[in-house]
Amino acid sequence: MFPLEKLKQIPTPFYYYDVEVLNRTLQQLKSEADKYGFVVHYALKANANNKVLNAVKSYGIGADCVSGNEVKKAVETGFSPEHIVFAGVGKSDDEINYALDNSIFCFNCESSQELEVINELAAAKNKVASIALRINPNVNANTHKYITTGLEENKFGINLWELENVVNSFNALKNLKLIGLHFHIGSQITDLGSFKSLCLKVNEIQTWFEQRKIKIENINVGGGLGVNYYEPDTYLIPDFAAYFKLFGDFLEVRKGQKVHFELGRAIVAQCGTLISKVLYIKKGVNTNFAILDAGMTELMRPALYQAYHKIENISKMEDGKWKMENGQDTSAIYKYDVVGPICESSDCFGKAVSLPETERGDVMALRTAGAYGEVMSSAYNLRDRVKAVYSDEI
Ligand code: LLP
Repeated sequence: MFPLEKLKQIPTPFYYYDVEVLNRTLQQLKSEADKYGFVVHYALKANANNKVLNAVKSYGIGADCVSGNEVKKAVETGFSPEHIVFAGVGKSDDEINYALDNSIFCFNCESSQELEVINELAAAKNKVASIALRINPNVNANTHKYITTGLEENKFGINLWELENVVNSFNALKNLKLIGLHFHIGSQITDLGSFKSLCLKVNEIQTWFEQRKIKIENINVGGGLGVNYYEPDTYLIPDFAAYFKLFGDFLEVRKGQKVHFELGRAIVAQCGTLISKVLYIKKGVNTNFAILDAGMTELMRPALYQAYHKIENISKMEDGKWKMENGQDTSAIYKYDVVGPICESSDCFGKAVSLPETERGDVMALRTAGAYGEVMSSAYNLRDRVKAVYSDEI
């Protein structure tokens, strides 16, 4: 439930974070992962706000970074370097050097050339870099094509057919230590069967390493657990129990081996909402437009991936439900294309959205926006950078 009277006073648009939901999510995550001794790293790319990061850190969760600045942010937030992993297909020399200087836990490496570069940079510093090979397992995540990463035609990871050469190259790379294998098949995965396929593939790959007498201390299975964008209130906290159980059941963990996860969306999506006001209602030939003061500059996912976010007119809601008039739910009568103010036709949050009769000044909530929302916002059209508001600060 949103504190409407308080939210109305704050200039829109802004991201509203429900800190209690975040904490409940983190508690569940931690307690379910602990049952199996699994190590969780939070993917900073989903949301790197200080408050979110501090909450994550307080549960003893590590950091998964994909840029030098994310590594820096994690270090500055106080994540211990032994709990920081650094992934990405295009790590620059400066980024690698920064991570080496901070002795992070592990580089997740994506190509043989990258291994050579890290080796050279580590040698120059007289250091040994810990490496996990990111292997492309060729497993279909059954998700949107832009966020599928584990197929051979994706740019990510080392393909299975390259593995022999890559592993052999380690003999000459004296400043690298192979400490693990890394996998990530995609994001917003709602079919747990995809993770089962991943486990079975990882089991096969582990056997391949064993046959070559190579000991693997760490298995990192990436992130990707999806959330429910359609019914956020019913599925406020992802089913971490089922998710971790699946890995507990199907991943063949070797003695002394640690299993790592890199979750982003599942941790922060549901605690965040983009709050906006209706600027204008415009009647088209067949369509009514509700024009908001937030657009693709604040929440890019609908324009970029045709992603669905539930849209609610919270000015016309009571106790989380639409207000009734004379006992009749009048809301379904009205359909709006809900759009932003940006000069692009793709700046549309939803077409033919059923809403109560909506008018200028109504407060609108775009739900499940805590992950890949604020972090992907931009200043296109010279828009102001979107602000963040926290439930325990208003
Ligand atoms: N590990 C690696 C190597 C990744 O590439 C990602 C996400 C994660 C972990 C975290 O995945 P998560 O648990 O959040 O699914 N902007 C897109 C999502 C891009 C995901 C990129 N990689 C969106 O808005 O849907």
